Amino acid sequence: MSHYDQNTIEEVRRANDIVEVIGEYVPLKKSGSNYFGLCPFHSEKSPSFSVNPQRQMYHCFGCGASGTVYQFYENYLHMSFPEAVRALAQRAGITLKESADTPEQKRRRQRRDLLLAAQKEAAYYYYSLLHSDHGKACLAYFKKRGLSDKTMISFGLGYSDAFSDDLYRHLKKKGYKDDILKDTGLFTFDERGVRDKFFNRAMFPIMDQYSKVIGFGGRVMGDGQPKYLNSPETEIFDKSHTLYGLFLARRSRRGYFILCEGYMDVIALHQGGFDCAVASLGTSLTTGQVSVISRFTKDVYLSYDSDGAGIKAALRAIPMFRKEGITPRIIHMDPYKDPDEFIKAVGSNEYQKRIDEAENFFIFEIRQLQKNYDTTDPGMRTEFQREIAKKLCGFKEQLERDNYTDAVCKEFNIPVEAMRSLVKETAAQEIIKTSARARSRYSAGNQDPVRPHGKGPAAGTVDKSQSLLLSWVSYRPDLFEVVFKFLKPPDFQEGVLRSTAYEMYDQMQKSGIMNPAAIIDSFDEIEDQNVVSRIFHEYVRDLQATPKDERGRAFTQTLSRVVAKAYDERMNSLEATDVARFELVRQKNESLSEISKLHIPNA
Ligand code: UTP
Ligand code: MN
Repeated sequence: MSHYDQNTIEEVRRANDIVEVIGEYVPLKKSGSNYFGLCPFHSEKSPSFSVNPQRQMYHCFGCGASGTVYQFYENYLHMSFPEAVRALAQRAGITLKESADTPEQKRRRQRRDLLLAAQKEAAYYYYSLLHSDHGKACLAYFKKRGLSDKTMISFGLGYSDAFSDDLYRHLKKKGYKDDILKDTGLFTFDERGVRDKFFNRAMFPIMDQYSKVIGFGGRVMGDGQPKYLNSPETEIFDKSHTLYGLFLARRSRRGYFILCEGYMDVIALHQGGFDCAVASLGTSLTTGQVSVISRFTKDVYLSYDSDGAGIKAALRAIPMFRKEGITPRIIHMDPYKDPDEFIKAVGSNEYQKRIDEAENFFIFEIRQLQKNYDTTDPGMRTEFQREIAKKLCGFKEQLERDNYTDAVCKEFNIPVEAMRSLVKETAAQEIIKTSARARSRYSAGNQDPVRPHGKGPAAGTVDKSQSLLLSWVSYRPDLFEVVFKFLKPPDFQEGVLRSTAYEMYDQMQKSGIMNPAAIIDSFDEIEDQNVVSRIFHEYVRDLQATPKDERGRAFTQTLSRVVAKAYDERMNSLEATDVARFELVRQKNESLSEISKLHIPNA
């Protein structure tokens, strides 16, 4: 949640002209009323990145990236929304009013600050031990594993001494009280006294994305059990949302993330030049971690260990990423065990090749599935193919499904036509099974009182015609009246579209002024902001595809399509015998005929 109010957000945006802000990072040239440059979000040779000073928005005609100054900071500098607000406020010399804390909030903030300070002090302590006489063996261990001084420093590696309470005594001397130290997770307090949790271990500080130490992993030097000991979760250490290496990966310019299993994998990859590597922390991947990743990139490579456990972990991770709209690829490391071993054995160039050859997640899944079948046996082979057909039905979009069908058939030597018809049959059966459950949530006449902001279907499933319509309105506020005469916000698809419709409606009711940038910024999640920016640009794409003298007609066609569908939805939600159904049919025809008579000037 951004705790800045809309007025503040608006004020800060006004104070930061988008042409100037982006101009600090991307050389721009004026052409007509826009500015153009090479897109910073994808690589290109001729400029298709445009910045529009009137709308205070940017848009790339090549890759579709778009947004306001805030999204530029979020997407280019990888900041969160509140960070972007703070940074832009600072740029413009505006002092932000932080919302005043309640006493309880103040107490918690102070505790948090103390806990963070204690972790930082512990990290310094371990670091200096590593470079003292006591740390010689540990330093030799790190060196033996191929780590350079620079790498050790950037990951803040350290050493915990063989004494049982030296860290405790050190922190006490620095003035930390037991009630704080108890909650750092670094000590055990019991009747025998206080002992350090980590001793005689190689220490890996765990940083949050802002480089603040929030916990530790400690490895035995050599063999021994447990191999790694990790800090427990604390008020400042939420394992399910933390990724090792994220504080560096978020600044990477590679545009993708490599997800691996271990601390040492992350470190070895970074040292090898892959500064976009991250790992979960001793636990299997969580949905929280996946959603954190998806805030930074939609392009993810899995570089899990090549053993059975690694394959299992990858199969588990794939659907978690798919839910976030990410299409992961799998890096194969055979004959090596993990990225650390791989890079040490054959180097970064070879690893880059493995990235380039990474396998599509679906082909990977099917390859694993195949292991359960003896495909030389015709019966087993048929079973295998049926399973593939079922999995292909998971792709809801026809084009995507066809493409995957083609790819899978090619890879596994299956006749394409036979597979296509099997998929069709399977899909038809699935529809029969689920149609009984499918019911629209919309109830006519009953305006939706809940107004969840954002969080609708994933970007790919946003309704095209509705997007186009809202985009038209954002560029042509003169069309607002006519659109909202036939449609109300709840007629729009639940999620981002509906929220956008509500925001537009509010703006126009309250001020009569359309402010698309403010609508985008009203969403808390970068995901949603990006979806809305893209929606607003549908119009531009549509205009390019439509000859000038047909644009008015194109608009009315889109409007009647959306209105017809809205009525159909309303009717679906009523019982078949209801007279209201009859009335709705009448209204629908009347509206459609009215729309067909509209005269919309060509823009
Ligand atoms: P690995 O054993 O693959 O770790 O476990 P690694 O980083 O490659 O270790 P090296 O190369 O032998 O030093 C993967 C991750 O699982 C967690 C750690 O986070 C580790 O990095 N783990 C493993 C534990 O938390 N405890 C353990 O006992 C072992
Ligand atoms: Mn390893």
